[in-house]
Amino acid sequence: MEYLKFCFVFSFWMKFANSLYPSESPQTPAPIPKEKLLVLTVATEETDGFRRFMQSAKYFNYNVKVLGMGEAWRGGDVGRSIGGGQKVRLLKEAMEGLADQEDLIVLSVDSYDLIFAGGPEEILRKFQQANNKVIFAAEGLIWPDKRLADKYPSIRSGKRYLNSGGIIGYAPYINRIVSQWSLHDNDDDQLFYTKIYLDPLQRQTLNMTLDHKCQIFQNLNGAVDEVLLKFGTDRVRVRNTAYDSLPVVVHGNGNTKMYLNYLANYVPNAWNYEHGCSHCDDDLVDLSQLKEYPNVLVGVFIEQPTPFLPEFFQRLLTLDYPKDKLKVFVHNNEVYHEKHIQKFWEENRNAFSSFKVVGPEENLSQGEARNMGMDLCRKDAACDYYFSMDSDVMLTNRQTLKLLIEQNRKIIGPLVTRHGKLWSNFWGALSLDGYYARSEDYVDIVQRKRVGVWNIPYMAHIYLVKGSALRNELKERNYFVLEKLDPDMALCRNAREMTSHREKDSPSPESFHMLRPPKGVFMYITNRHDFGRLISTANYNISHYNNDLWQIFENPVDWKEKYIHQNYTQIFTENYLEEPCPDVFWFPVFTEKACDEIVEEMEHYGSWSGGKHEDKRISGGYETVPTDDIHMKQIGFDKEWLHFIREFISPVTLKVFSGYYTKGYAVMNFVVKYTPERQAYLRPHHDSSTFTINIALNNKDRDFQGGGCRFHRYNCSIESPRKGWSFMHPGRLTHLHEGLPTTNGTRYIAVSFIDP
Ligand SMILES: *[C@@H]1O[C@H](CO)[C@@H](O)[C@H](O)[C@H]1NC(C)=O
Ligand SMILES: *[C@@H]1O[C@H](CO)[C@@H](O)[C@H](O)[C@H]1NC(C)=O
Ligand SMILES: *[C@@H]1O[C@H](CO)[C@@H](O)[C@H](O)[C@H]1NC(C)=O
Ligand SMILES: *[C@@H]1O[C@H](CO)[C@@H](O)[C@H](O)[C@H]1NC(C)=O
Ligand SMILES: *[C@@H]1O[C@H](CO)[C@@H](O)[C@H](O)[C@H]1NC(C)=O
Ligand SMILES: *[C@@H]1O[C@H](CO)[C@@H](O)[C@H](O)[C@H]1NC(C)=O
Repeated sequence: MEYLKFCFVFSFWMKFANSLYPSESPQTPAPIPKEKLLVLTVATEETDGFRRFMQSAKYFNYNVKVLGMGEAWRGGDVGRSIGGGQKVRLLKEAMEGLADQEDLIVLSVDSYDLIFAGGPEEILRKFQQANNKVIFAAEGLIWPDKRLADKYPSIRSGKRYLNSGGIIGYAPYINRIVSQWSLHDNDDDQLFYTKIYLDPLQRQTLNMTLDHKCQIFQNLNGAVDEVLLKFGTDRVRVRNTAYDSLPVVVHGNGNTKMYLNYLANYVPNAWNYEHGCSHCDDDLVDLSQLKEYPNVLVGVFIEQPTPFLPEFFQRLLTLDYPKDKLKVFVHNNEVYHEKHIQKFWEENRNAFSSFKVVGPEENLSQGEARNMGMDLCRKDAACDYYFSMDSDVMLTNRQTLKLLIEQNRKIIGPLVTRHGKLWSNFWGALSLDGYYARSEDYVDIVQRKRVGVWNIPYMAHIYLVKGSALRNELKERNYFVLEKLDPDMALCRNAREMTSHREKDSPSPESFHMLRPPKGVFMYITNRHDFGRLISTANYNISHYNNDLWQIFENPVDWKEKYIHQNYTQIFTENYLEEPCPDVFWFPVFTEKACDEIVEEMEHYGSWSGGKHEDKRISGGYETVPTDDIHMKQIGFDKEWLHFIREFISPVTLKVFSGYYTKGYAVMNFVVKYTPERQAYLRPHHDSSTFTINIALNNKDRDFQGGGCRFHRYNCSIESPRKGWSFMHPGRLTHLHEGLPTTNGTRYIAVSFIDP
């Protein structure tokens, strides 16, 4: 009763106050000063979500009081079951000291899964406009007791049911609500508030209502489709499109935590089009200020035959990081790769602080191997970081490890993408039932049109985890899900159904283990730099001798890097080519590796023709000027070779014979072997081609003596062929030519008669 009296006095005073200040229109009471707003939140731990909440509160200058920090949480697992009573108990205790502050407005909110999208002035204005003493957040789904639905007042539109994640009201009123609490810490807070609200008498005397149209509180559960990001010049807000409102408090209740993470990548000022990322440089680790670099355990996972594995290891070796601070753990599941690892180990094992390999004979499953790697760091107190890399990640940025450490997050991965594809190592979103969903920003992040550090739900292939996090938040192995699929997903549908749910460009959950952080730990991907790419392991045929040679279609960038001469592009940019005889052009095209591997491939095949006139491989079966050779077709390399001609030879042709557009068609593609013991030279002849290329595959004076090529019409010889360089000359009429004798050793050349 005393309370009602106060209420009367208060409203009288308000009227009186308004009449004292006639400049204010009588309909609009004076705005409540923002000092009168106190935010109360319960948090027993400083989770990543809590820090994010505080960051958004700080941005708007909210006055926040945190209740229960450091206390053990006894409020149950509110994500899955009822609970949360501890929050009411703590609020009740806090309100006892505030109950007599009649004009104090208390905003009680959750903090682990909640952010502010607007400031105190706005929230107070909306509160004032609503003209109630207490307002609860509302949602469309009823929880925890569905049987109470009928007891709710009916409404014409808006969210009907109470959500206790957000309450705003005058301190004495809030106090009168929470002082009724006498339950246990693990009893349900929402049920408690719901019962009070559903009591018609209390509803009236405490002047309570719900924020039906999300003016103040946006609960995301059941409402994900209603909200959009609204980009402003300084700030990003959430707009509720169903009620055309701009809610101030955004709450990722129920299973919408991931969606809140997505929104919070932008709201309130994390990223926008004007200034880009605003928190990317917060709390950076300055490696140059550390006495010593942190110890990193690198876990390398070779779970399937992987093209360009020696190059992968070379990149590991050339990472810009002190090698004595790196321990390497390799899980190799492929017998095929044992030779590559053996070679790298022999040459470089001492480069690292340690180098341990678990081979295919151990028969470890992928999950076991990944847990083993992580455990090695977890159990070693000196392990500062665990850096997990799959063998299909080509890190082209040598600074990657340093950049990731500097970013100072518990779990962070560099964005890597499949060349020219939208395929990457993360998922931007999950649908509510746990499937892959493309987030609105996925493409922009992959294409680096939006640059920043992004909180994301799933990641694979490459990531850095803090050792301290492994020993704390992530210490329970089984909590850290490294399943092929999230077990929930795996149970529901079989893999084929999964595939049909996915978009073509999304990473495939069947092909790798994805990393999902445990509850409360944020996982980030950074695209602030170009880090590298993902190579394709599909269609990798390992039945050849040097299998990477065949990767020109599947992994063209890595193929080019491995096999095309370093100075090839300078042909076009700097005219890097020579004309040693009239219309004979000479240019770099292959790396040493390409030459060596082609020769090895041919010698491995071994059936040299012997240079006889009778030749079953060609139409007519008779060769007038036979060489001792093997055709590309014989080793199954003709399609790849023709593609090489179109990609790398045609542009040179167009440059030196301008106006001549070659179709890059060739039936005769072969490697010739000259040696004094077999065939040492080739007599003068024309080629059956419009033009011919002739690539030297080994070194004069090192591998052979003699050799070269002589063009009769011009009395011009080239006697010092260069390994990896090609001649290009017209095949007929003007360019009668001969192969000069190889006097010692073995000389190899690759020849194509183009446009016959
Ligand atoms: C709450 O109080 C205001 C006046 O202070 C009144 O206009 C309004 O009808 C009340 N609402 C409820 C639900 O009692
Ligand atoms: C390897 O493990 C698989 C499954 O765990 C099992 O089926 C297989 O027999 C094992 N192979 C060897 C050689 O131990
Ligand atoms: C792999 O290459 C071998 C040798 O060229 C060939 O016989 C085989 O058909 C190829 N396998 C596939 C799956 O393409
Ligand atoms: C490429 O050209 C530069 C000079 O332009 C030279 O120093 C370098 O050795 C060349 N690279 C190769 C692989 O020949
Ligand atoms: C061809 O050139 C060589 C030297 O390069 C010279 O000795 C010879 O006389 C020339 N022959 C003709 C037919 O010009
Ligand atoms: C031929 O080559 C071998 C090794 O490549 C070398 O030992 C020998 O001296 C060479 N012979 C001549 C005549 O140059």
